[in-house]
Amino acid sequence: MDKINFFTDNLDVQNKKIILRLDLNVPLKDKVIKDYTRIDLCLPFIKRLIEKKAKIIIISHLGRPMENKDPALSLMPIYKYLKKKLQTNIYFFMGKFDDEVKSKFSHLKEGEVILIENIRYFKEETEDDDNFSKKLGSLGDIYINDAFSCSHRKQASVHKITKYINISVAGPLFKKEIDAMNLIIKNKKEPVTCIIGGSKISTKIKIILSLLEKIDNLIIVGAMANNFLVYKNFKVGKSLVENNTKEIIEKIYSKAIENNCEILIPEDCMVGTSFEGEGKNKDLDKIQENDIILDIGSNTINSIKKKIEQSNTVLWNGPAGYFENENFANGTRSIAKTISKNTLERSLISVLGGGDTLAAIDKSKNELSFSHLSTAGGAFLEYLEGKDLPGLSVLK
Ligand code: 3PG
Repeated sequence: MDKINFFTDNLDVQNKKIILRLDLNVPLKDKVIKDYTRIDLCLPFIKRLIEKKAKIIIISHLGRPMENKDPALSLMPIYKYLKKKLQTNIYFFMGKFDDEVKSKFSHLKEGEVILIENIRYFKEETEDDDNFSKKLGSLGDIYINDAFSCSHRKQASVHKITKYINISVAGPLFKKEIDAMNLIIKNKKEPVTCIIGGSKISTKIKIILSLLEKIDNLIIVGAMANNFLVYKNFKVGKSLVENNTKEIIEKIYSKAIENNCEILIPEDCMVGTSFEGEGKNKDLDKIQENDIILDIGSNTINSIKKKIEQSNTVLWNGPAGYFENENFANGTRSIAKTISKNTLERSLISVLGGGDTLAAIDKSKNELSFSHLSTAGGAFLEYLEGKDLPGLSVLK
């Protein structure tokens, strides 16, 4: 298999124009940044390039603007934040990608930065347009993709741009993500346990089927577990269930047997009669018509703890319950604490991914330890599934 070309310090960037594709797609409300994690993670590498006297042209998208250039999705708030954090001249490019575009970047001096306005304001970006990619490529000498989380998109600034630039490499954050995921599917320390949660099984079926071939234990939590309970003939009251999942679940169980993978589903749960109300721990055969399953129960938490303690590698994607209500956050919190404790005390390899999972542990994130927290959502799942990511293939 071809290797990915990674950025190394041997690459001479001084006085070179570097096109740096980042994922600065952060949550905003009324133009105020709500979570800086993605930007803060990018800062050390930008600073390193500044120190190396590169001329840095940053490209990122923000959200999914449709036809019109939705002002709510401007990168201006991110530009202002970068201006505060970087000790150099930093410019904001809001111009057009016309035939003169190259000359508009010619004033850039060594160690300076230009941030291009939301690249998805140009429909050619999402169309992976050849001419647009050529114009983007013409701006730089070297292309660095440090946005692993966008690499499942076949879009100009992550894909076709590489056709029009001589040197294309992956940056250090990209490498960190790949290395962490390979700990689950390639260079793994067995036994490997995957905890998959969230609300919909249909969106994760492919990754589950693919993981079953590689891991020892699969733990299903969150609302998607309700479908397994229905499959096992338990009544789930008013809980969230999807239609037509019988076949999917049959497939999962038969593939698990084939691959000698143990599947754990909840053995008890916390129910409420509304999402905002209080919770009650119930055995599965005690669930009533008005009940909604909103978290895993205490026996399930204990079984999961044991499995984590017996594992050498754990992947966790998707919360165990409706963590937004404190009354139903215990399952998610207990999983987080157990993984963290085992990571610290006996070097468990722990990889967490997905926006919901990170949001769920956000409040206690600073007190917990994990081997790797992935900021990628879709790309994280697609890589684990074994898919060929367009933005990754072009860096090989
Ligand atoms: C993400 O937030 O997962 C990445 O920025 C990709 O965004 P997208 O799903 O809009 O392509």
